[in-house]
Amino acid sequence: MSCSNPHLVHSKADIPRHVAIVMDGNGRWAKKRFMPRFFGHKAGVDSLVKTVLACADRGIDYLTVYAFSSENWRRPTEEVTGLMGLVLVAVAKYLTKLADKGVRIRIVGDRTQVSDKLRAAWEQAETLTRDNNRITLSVCFNYGGRWDIVQACRQAIADGVLANELDEDKLARYMALAHAPDPDLFIRTGGEVRVSNFLLWQAAYSEFVFTDCLWPDFGDAELDAALAAFARRDRRFGGVKDAATHAESLQSA
Ligand code: FPP
Repeated sequence: MSCSNPHLVHSKADIPRHVAIVMDGNGRWAKKRFMPRFFGHKAGVDSLVKTVLACADRGIDYLTVYAFSSENWRRPTEEVTGLMGLVLVAVAKYLTKLADKGVRIRIVGDRTQVSDKLRAAWEQAETLTRDNNRITLSVCFNYGGRWDIVQACRQAIADGVLANELDEDKLARYMALAHAPDPDLFIRTGGEVRVSNFLLWQAAYSEFVFTDCLWPDFGDAELDAALAAFARRDRRFGGVKDAATHAESLQSA
């Protein structure tokens, strides 16, 4: 096919609208270099910035990343403090660049437990980019899939939704990622093959790609390999391939 963007090797239908990533492997990447784990997280931020721009170039509308899970508080205090500080540094270093490139930033997660400084940085990022529409980057921070389901139920109850009125569509509107369609492609770097409480509700029909690549090493080649794997998948959403043809053949039988 011909197209002006050299990265768009597939037809638009083959390109996932929404990609979600568990950015795993920063610690091991640093260890291999005899450096502290923080060094890996720092490199992970650079990898994230490159990846969001690469996704935008390829026509992906939404990128959602797992930056800090509800369980990450269990890490050593030094690492948790380092990660919080890194967010402030990353916002100062990259916010203008991402804003200028048309990236809309949204923060997803429980903000009640983070510092006022961090909350202010998130608000600054969201406000500065709120009119951008090239790609939406949702940063899941102090986020967990189970937390999300519980907070959605709580909000629905607080809104007076009755038990017999609650269905999947209604509850979905209360989920923290309600601004985005469900992820089509779910990538996890770092070699582990598990979901780790990420997007439990939204990933019901996502296609999964697991790679051994450590997150700071993730680049164009790994992204394109994941997109190529996605393009080869046969998505049925619990139905059958080409449901319309199947229904017609049943009728004429
Ligand atoms: C998992 O690697 C990675 C994290 C827990 C943190 C991911 C965070 C970033 C890439 C930085 C995000 C920053 C901003 C500004 C959004 P790991 O530490 O579990 O690595 P390991 O499995 O090799 O130990």
